Amino acid sequence: EKANLALIFDRYKGLIAGLPKQKGWLTESLYMYQGHWFSPTKLISIGTVMVSQELFQANPTDIYLVTQPKSGTTWIKALAFAILNRTRHTNVPTHPLLMFNPHDCVPYIENEVLRTKPTYSDATSTRLFATHMPYTSLPQSIHDSSCRIVYMCRNPKDVLVSLIHFVNKVRDKSLDRITLEEGFEMFCKGVSPCGPYWDHVKGYYKASLKHPTRILFLTYENMKRDTRSNVKRLADFLGCPFTEEEEAKGVVEEIVSLCSFKRLSDRNKHGTIREGLPNEVFFREGKVGDWSNHLTKEMGQILDEITTQKFRGLDITF
Ligand code: A3P
Repeated sequence: EKANLALIFDRYKGLIAGLPKQKGWLTESLYMYQGHWFSPTKLISIGTVMVSQELFQANPTDIYLVTQPKSGTTWIKALAFAILNRTRHTNVPTHPLLMFNPHDCVPYIENEVLRTKPTYSDATSTRLFATHMPYTSLPQSIHDSSCRIVYMCRNPKDVLVSLIHFVNKVRDKSLDRITLEEGFEMFCKGVSPCGPYWDHVKGYYKASLKHPTRILFLTYENMKRDTRSNVKRLADFLGCPFTEEEEAKGVVEEIVSLCSFKRLSDRNKHGTIREGLPNEVFFREGKVGDWSNHLTKEMGQILDEITTQKFRGLDITF
């Protein structure tokens, strides 16, 4: 089937060219596919979403970590990986998270479908994947299977600021930098990678109410506030709760520390991830509320108003 990829991509070309288009973040343009904005090329693109929808097969024991870009993907990847693999890798210098970027430990579905050799060759192991796909665009086999989904979102003001910094580090050199004002305007209009931001969050929030045992809804802010309880909650949800003995031995604290911003960012000052981006671009401040150092008060208020209006009636707080 992999041999058909080139053909499939070719088939998508015409389709993509006919889609609504806006100025892009990472690439020159973003295109709207199934109600959300994606790049036409680059790592996670419309093409890879389409291939995933066509070819990706979920297993009932799979675990999917879903985020919008800049909502804490790197962190949740590290946490889930550390929790699931805690008996295989104890907290020693050779722990994969201290050898590799979390993005190299947990593949995106959107990249996995392009690999000739699957990441998980052992049919009995739990497969841990990540994705940025909106709920309604997930491959049908994920909807049809009983696999678990962890969704993490982050307050839109910090997502926006994080996104502007990130894209200006990695976008094509031939393109101008995205200014704060420009980025703000695009984001408010809903034009952001995998956005509209609010629709992405709402899709998973509503699904988590409908399928509470299958979908866990987390926020970056809550994870920051109390990482320990959230790590335990995550382990419970993933079906591997900490034993009393583990708790007494401080295993939860070890995982929190292993995945801390300081530890991971120190490890990732050099080198690149498999897909070529520098390791360091995934670590900037790692704080809640850094938006206030960049956006004006007014910009913050406007985003708050949009968020209040879009999330009306839903219990989503940051
Ligand atoms: P800032 O730019 O606000 O610092 P993603 O992983 O989805 O790309 O999101 C990146 C954001 O998560 C960045 O936010 C980054 O600094 C922050 N981040 C990365 N690793 C983290 C960690 N271990 N703990 C907390 N935040 C982290």
